[in-house]
Amino acid sequence: MRETGFPRSLFIAEGGCVVGTWIMGNSYHVRSGYYGGYPAGYLRRVRALFPDKRRVLHLFSGKVDLKVLPGDTVDISAELKPTYVDDAQRLERVPLDAYDLVLADPPYSVEDAQRYQTCTVKRNVVIRVLQRVKPETHVVWLDQVPVQYRNATFAMEAAIGMMKSTNHRFRMITVFQRRNTNGGRCEGRGT
Ligand SMILES: C[S@@+](CC[C@H](N)C(=O)[O-])C[C@H]1O[C@@H](n2cnc3c(N)ncnc32)[C@H](O)[C@@H]1O
Repeated sequence: MRETGFPRSLFIAEGGCVVGTWIMGNSYHVRSGYYGGYPAGYLRRVRALFPDKRRVLHLFSGKVDLKVLPGDTVDISAELKPTYVDDAQRLERVPLDAYDLVLADPPYSVEDAQRYQTCTVKRNVVIRVLQRVKPETHVVWLDQVPVQYRNATFAMEAAIGMMKSTNHRFRMITVFQRRNTNGGRCEGRGT
């Protein structure tokens, strides 16, 4: 990964795993006003990490700001008018091999799912479905719970904490890369 252009807060740990914390500062509000939406600045930081990615898929897309990071969208709610109305646990309508960067932002808890009037998501099922992406595709997963992934399929490349502001929940960004060979940077995390 390259430098983000934001204050230096990411480090390469022994073994090559990128670790650090993004403190979102004053620009933490959600522009769309959508419950659980990305804080302003999040997409710009992700874009800065992956300047060469051209084919982006926003999974659990909600009201993601496509002006900042253009791409296709997937949500279970048709009202949001995503590119694909689909369940992230199946993704039957989505040509996953067409993308080189996937961003995922699922509901984090039962209470969150209720806000969207959806069922809770089985994270391990979603990450298993995402095995269909091309080798070397990156998955950037924002959550409060570590995702159980298969070490043989995905290499974990980065673990970045995200702090919004006082009285907001901490979140964690995990970056995976679809393997085509063995050898990840943050070994010992997957099963
Ligand atoms: C945390 S919000 C995402 C917000 C988004 N990052 C933004 O900036 O607006 C989670 C989204 O996941 C959607 N969702 C819930 N369950 C889903 C499922 N099984 N498959 C696809 N989308 C789902 C909800 O409709 C909601 O829009």
